Amino acid sequence: MSTTISLKEVSASAHEALNAFHREFERFANTSEAESVGGALNLEDGVAEQRALAEVRTKCLGKKSDLAGLKKMIGRVAPEERAQVGQLIQQLERTMTESLDQAEERFKSQLETLRIERESIDVTLPGRRPSRGHLHPITLLRERIEDIFVSLGYAIEDGREIETDFYNFDALNIPLNHPARAPQDTFYTTEGFALRSQTSTVQIHAMQRRGAPVRMIAPGRVFRRDTPDPTHNPMFYQVEGLCVDRGISMAHLKGTVAEFLRRMFGPATVTRFRPSYFPFTEPSAEFDFSCFKCGGSGCRICKNSGWIELGGSGMVHPNVLRVVGIDPEEFSGFAFGLGIDRMAALMYNIDDIRLLYQNDVRFLEQFS
Ligand code: FA5
Repeated sequence: MSTTISLKEVSASAHEALNAFHREFERFANTSEAESVGGALNLEDGVAEQRALAEVRTKCLGKKSDLAGLKKMIGRVAPEERAQVGQLIQQLERTMTESLDQAEERFKSQLETLRIERESIDVTLPGRRPSRGHLHPITLLRERIEDIFVSLGYAIEDGREIETDFYNFDALNIPLNHPARAPQDTFYTTEGFALRSQTSTVQIHAMQRRGAPVRMIAPGRVFRRDTPDPTHNPMFYQVEGLCVDRGISMAHLKGTVAEFLRRMFGPATVTRFRPSYFPFTEPSAEFDFSCFKCGGSGCRICKNSGWIELGGSGMVHPNVLRVVGIDPEEFSGFAFGLGIDRMAALMYNIDDIRLLYQNDVRFLEQFS
């Protein structure tokens, strides 16, 4: 038979159980309404603390708790002290349960607040403006050129950047070992293929595909083994123009280029042609226009000459027409080509065309 336990012994054990509870509960007890329970600052920490509180409840009130042990002692207390012991244990249980319930309540309401805060959108806050990109200056200029020629009835052709020698040279009346290959030396890939050195290659493709008559421009990237400097890049943009029909003369070429430049730089723009040489045009001419800045009186942009050089042009060589199966007795045409990078540098007052490809946002943002 087990020995009797006195009220004094039970109350000592109850005291110990209460102390143990206080130690466990301490971190959840000292929180005011303003503070979050357990010092949790965010939702995740709060949820973890709430779980820790549930563990304290199991430890102090559960089946294996000191309290459960105390309850088992009741049977071993002398009958006259049993009522008092019962009350003592009930009181202990009530104290612990109330503390735990209050903390649990505070957790619930604070976690609710944290959840609402996280999910709510404050419509009075200023929105976060998405940073918008914009077109590159070369693209902006290319689109302006395209708009002008489309309004003059020209189609826009897209060409390939990797070409055969045939399209880059032979078909353009530049046979192997011709000195005109030298200034346009380019980057060769596999045997017989090269990165195109000029957009004139698209003339050949366009005439082969469309035949005559044809009116098209071809903007695009070209490549040359040029050493980079403020006016040269090994990769740059050109735009090619081609018009082939019956009765096309040099007058059409001059009229078209002059009209393009007037629309580009203003109605007062004057165009001039200087005799030149290109293997695929005969006769050939380079064209300049009166400086858009000073109107021809001389300034930094036109290097005090009053004129700005822009590109090459001429009447399509009969050999080129023959290569694509167009009869030069029936058809004639003109072609022209200009560099977009240098034109952009002039228009936007850029000292060095290499800046166009450095992808420095501080530079590019100026053209938005
Ligand atoms: C040509 O490329 C001829 N295909 C133009 C042409 C077309 C003539 C149709 C007749 C008929 P050229 O090599 O001059 O021509 O180049 C034309 C333009 O490209 C130049 O005026 C210049 O603006 C630009 N350019 C040439 N090399 C470079 C370079 N390394 N970097 C930037 N721009 C360049």
